[in-house]
Amino acid sequence: METAPTTNARLISWVQEMELLCSPDRVYWCDGSPAEYQAMAELMVSTGTAEWLDETIRPNSLLSRSDPADVARVEDRTFICSTNEIDAGPTNNWADPVEMKKTLTELFDGAMQGRTLYVIPFSMGPIGSPIAYTGVQITDSPYVVVSMHIMTRVGQEVLDTLADGDFVPCLHSVGMPLEPGTDDVPWPSNNDDKYIVQFPETREIWSFGSGYGGNALLGKKCFALRIASVMARDEGWLAEHMLILKLTSPEGTVHYIAGAFPSACGKTNLAMMEPTIEDWRVETVGDDIAWMKFGDDGRLHAINPEAGFFGVAPGTSMESNPNAMLTLRENSIFTNCARTVEGDVWWEDMTPEEPATLTDWHGQEWAPRATTAAAHPNARFTSPASQCPVIAPEWEDPAGVPISAILFGGRRSNVVPLVHEARDWEHGVFIGSIMSSESTAAATGAVGVVRRDPMAMLPFCGYNMADYWNHWLETGHRKDAQLPRIFYVNWFRKDEDGQFVWPGFGENSRVLKWVFERCEGTAQARETAIGHVPPADALDIAGLDISAEAIKELTEIDRAGWLAESNDMRSYYEQFGDRLPAALTDQLDELRKRLADAG
Ligand code: GTP
Ligand code: SPV
Ligand code: MN
Repeated sequence: METAPTTNARLISWVQEMELLCSPDRVYWCDGSPAEYQAMAELMVSTGTAEWLDETIRPNSLLSRSDPADVARVEDRTFICSTNEIDAGPTNNWADPVEMKKTLTELFDGAMQGRTLYVIPFSMGPIGSPIAYTGVQITDSPYVVVSMHIMTRVGQEVLDTLADGDFVPCLHSVGMPLEPGTDDVPWPSNNDDKYIVQFPETREIWSFGSGYGGNALLGKKCFALRIASVMARDEGWLAEHMLILKLTSPEGTVHYIAGAFPSACGKTNLAMMEPTIEDWRVETVGDDIAWMKFGDDGRLHAINPEAGFFGVAPGTSMESNPNAMLTLRENSIFTNCARTVEGDVWWEDMTPEEPATLTDWHGQEWAPRATTAAAHPNARFTSPASQCPVIAPEWEDPAGVPISAILFGGRRSNVVPLVHEARDWEHGVFIGSIMSSESTAAATGAVGVVRRDPMAMLPFCGYNMADYWNHWLETGHRKDAQLPRIFYVNWFRKDEDGQFVWPGFGENSRVLKWVFERCEGTAQARETAIGHVPPADALDIAGLDISAEAIKELTEIDRAGWLAESNDMRSYYEQFGDRLPAALTDQLDELRKRLADAG
């Protein structure tokens, strides 16, 4: 092994042990430098894993096409291995940690033959921030190395700050050893065996067989959510699947708002939106994950543990999300997007006109009106957050930003109104616990199926969901806490023709304005069975081309629909048995009573 650039004894011996197990040809410690990024990019181009895009159109940017069987998170292959099954809870896949270590040890045995073992020291959060943590990922994928360069803070400074401290070991292999004399493939992965495994008690991650996204960039979902949610429970903070935005009113007053929406349900778009209402400003702190700790002021202070965006490409355009388009104009990695003849990327709805000819995400020629999409629906861009034109100046503040409001939201074509506010924290936790959303292409499996996705954490909670709700409730009981207000939003109501009723995107600023004014105590609210909704004149719809009928539909309470929901929630809750906090059953009973009284 090359000399380790650290004196951390646990780190050195872990790397030695994994080298012995995985049998790579060599070991390389990443320093996070631009030169390293370039060398790794050239390596990927030489092996066919990536190609350069045209230097004048899309400077210093790469396009990768994954194996068609490795395009999204694999929730059915994701495991929480706590000693007791009950601690993983009924919504997670569980396996015995000893058995699972055995299975994985066999799979990792020799798994890196013919490849390089890269050691990536990374910080989740500004290096040295009291809210940040260190991880070290071992991987045999150069694509993962360059992606981690963008998505996290990598390098010697991380090791120097870590010193002899604690880190989360994250072991990853694409699971395709190269026998001597065999040729590599452009996107090595393992289509027979995929395992995304979290050991919450020992705070370890083992990921095998996939090279894509949350399966492979282990700082993101595996560490910053599944493992960190357990750390947060133990230490009294919150690790959440949330965007963080800064909202400034025309008077210059600022509120920071966090929002938990499931995968591919609008976090990136909301985090960097261009408000359509005059003189309001949105700036971005984070687009996917928030780590929140109480400050001395009793408020929850949030950091974005990431340094880049791994954003959904399809649907992103100068029309829908100009700030994302400007962020990804250079120094970016595109995966499973189409390529134009000029050497740029393209995806569905990026431009009003489809290019006459394209190379699709399979590398095949594609023409307009083809029956298949040119880009995969979970095609993504990987871009530095610092390139975002509306990145908030304080986005790297080690102290984080104080959160005034938390939004929960999902993709629901009916029942759930445009916006409603929880009566108090406990009711807000209830609302988060009963969230539901249509499934999307961000995970393999059926798309468009409504499922309960509490706090947008269904695929990401590292322990029993009922215990997680209890942790949220306890967070609200903290003495002298100045808690954020909680709201439930839904941009995705559809009419009988299947068209979105609400225009969404920049127009969502109208809802943010009401949220802001609720925080300031200046906006009116109407009390209903499900919570507080804006009365007709409280929502600023000036200049918006929308019918009064549509607004009514978006803000009225569908009593029959909510009664049906509440029946479904009751059976959903049952699976948690005696771990379910009584406060939530009480909330459900009260909701049913209010709905009955309203009839
Ligand atoms: P992850 O990165 O998977 O966690 O997704 P995300 O929550 O950041 O979702 P993102 O903002 O990337 O949006 C996903 C898809 O929803 C994109 O195709 C967007 O164009 C679309 N979308 C986002 N906001 C809105 C909206 O307000 N209305 C409608 N109709 N679509 C939206
Ligand atoms: C999500 O699915 O919520 C994502 C993409 O943000 S991935 O990193 O693949 O999990
Ligand atoms: Mn996400």
